[in-house]
Formats: sequence, C-alpha cells, structure tokens
Amino acid sequence: MGRAWLVIEKRGADPALAESLETMKETPPSLAAVINRRSSGRLKEPGPTEEQLETIIRAGMSAPDHGRLRPWRFVIFEGEARGRFGDILAAALAKRLENQGIIPADHQLNKERNKLLRAPCVVAVCAVIDHDNRIPWTEQFAAVAATCENMLIAATALGIGSMWRTGEPSYDASVKEALGLRENDMITGWIYLGSAEKAPTSASLDEGFDSHVSYWS
Ligand SMILES: Cc1cc2nc3c(=O)[nH]c(=O)nc-3n(C[C@H](O)[C@H](O)[C@H](O)COP(=O)(O)O)c2cc1C
Repeated sequence: MGRAWLVIEKRGADPALAESLETMKETPPSLAAVINRRSSGRLKEPGPTEEQLETIIRAGMSAPDHGRLRPWRFVIFEGEARGRFGDILAAALAKRLENQGIIPADHQLNKERNKLLRAPCVVAVCAVIDHDNRIPWTEQFAAVAATCENMLIAATALGIGSMWRTGEPSYDASVKEALGLRENDMITGWIYLGSAEKAPTSASLDEGFDSHVSYWS
C-alpha cells in the first residue's frame, strides 16, 4: 500500500468523503496523490530529507514547458537561512510601508521575519522570464505554476505536508533581487514543506463539478 493510500484510508473516517473514497479504491496511487492533495498550513519537523527534496524538485522540473525554455529556478531555505532571509523580508516590508507613509510596527516586522519559520523547508520557485521570446511570458509563468503543482503532488505522494504561498514579498523588487532575480522575473510560489501537524481539512472531491464543467455543443 503506497503512502498516498494511507492518507486516503485516514480520510475514510470523514463521512462526507466516504462514498467518494470508496469509488477511489481502484484509483492508482499516483492519481490518488493528485486528487488527495491538500494544503497543510502548520508544518513541523522533520522536513523532507535531501533525497526527498531532490525528488520533489525533479518532479517540478518535469512540468510541461512551451519552447523548452526551462524558466524555473529553485531557492531552498532550511535551518538558520530561513531566519536570515526573514530579515530581508522584514526590511522589504518596512520599505513598502514607509513608501506609503506608514511607520512599521514591531509586531508587523516580527511576523514578516518569522514567515519562513512556518515550515522546516521552504522552496522559492521562481520564473526567469525571457520577455523577448516568441513564447508569451504568460506561458512561461504557466510552466512554473505547473512546476509548483507538480512539487505539491510529489510531496503528497511521499507523505510530506505542503502548501503553496505567495503574498506581497513575491512582488517586491528587493526580495526578487535577494533571490538573484531581475525585476521582470516572477516569484511564482513559496512551497512550504514539512510534517503536517494535523490531517489537512478535506474538501469534497467532486465539489462544483457540474457548475464548472460542460461539453461544448
Ligand atoms: C498562486 C497561489 C498562491 C497562493 N498563496 C497563498 C498565500 O499566500 N496564503 C494562503 O493562505 N494561501 C495561498 N494559496 C492557497 C493555498 O495554497 C491553498 O491552495 C488553498 O488554501 C486551498 O486549499 P487546498 O490546497 O487544501 O485545496 C495560494 C494558492 C496559489 C495557487
């Protein structure tokens, strides 16, 4: 029994999902990891091993990529590096607020400083955009968004908790610079990885299917 199946079996305790899960018994574990993926906001130690992290990033790199531009870049934060980068995030927030004429409060700066400490491992997934390429930048960005989703699915398949976050720092020029990006590059996501403190909240698996899907005729 794969780890993804273990997650499904645990979720079987949720009566709202029991029927859907029953029909998933025949689902291959790889597909179960896709359907079963849910965010975990609270992630604790241990984080992924080096080998697991490499697997997750390699899964990210197998995303579809128009023109084979390989626009993705990955910056890994673990251990003390998370706190040190937190200082950069806090300085960036202070500058953003000061530009709006707001004096930053200590609690705001502390919250920003501690952002990456919400998981043992955070990967900044960045899109290095070639704006002169025939492939539109939106498609280059889309490839890196697919990268992020692949990483979440791989983490789920490995039994590792995950969450895709963005927020204001993703659009801040000084944060981009600290990651070695240019202003026109994008931070597509901060992928938080670790051990889920509790089983993620289950969403109905077929929620909204009919209202979101139609056959064109
Ligand atoms: C591009 C992108 C950015 C996101 N940024 C945040 C974020 O900064 N904070 C947050 O709480 N959720 C964020 N989310 C949403 C969560 O990752 C999550 O998908 C959502 O809460 C739904 O829960 P689920 O993943 O369990 O279905 C983001 C999702 C995407 C696709």
